Amino acid sequence: MSLGPAADQREVWVLNGPNLGRLGRRQPEIYGTTTFAELADLARDWGRDLGLAVRVEQTNHEGVLLDLLNEAADRAVPVVLNAAAWTHYSYALFDACAQLEAPLVEVHISAPSKRPEEFRHTSVVTPHAALVIEGEGLDGYRRALEFIAAQSAH
Ligand code: DQA
Repeated sequence: MSLGPAADQREVWVLNGPNLGRLGRRQPEIYGTTTFAELADLARDWGRDLGLAVRVEQTNHEGVLLDLLNEAADRAVPVVLNAAAWTHYSYALFDACAQLEAPLVEVHISAPSKRPEEFRHTSVVTPHAALVIEGEGLDGYRRALEFIAAQSAH
């Protein structure tokens, strides 16, 4: 019996919260000009090079993200999470991240901890994250996938 690519690739979910679907058009001076569709392609390509099967999702609906995180917990799938503004105040998100069984990497395109708005300086995700990457643009997602690939190799 031959193993198909899915059988020997580790699954990783790259989950994105509100307003990230407008990447490329949304405040390009902060978030850049690459679109979300381009980011999704890049993430899948980076994953393939690392032997990871990457699923990319974006939602503007908090319950949808919670359902995805609950499923990731049930299936022990590693998660790269840019929860966008929910990062800063959602206790439901805090509780969902607490349940994850596999590594969680928190990613932000900008560096919220250095931005002027006080509300961005808190993250409910960080206490549960194995690694936090902020302010590296879209490259942060690549680094997050590299981290997960290295963890999976153990
Ligand atoms: C963000 C930073 C958050 O503060 C903001 O609400 C976002 C995007 C980032 O990727 O830099 O929507 O998570």
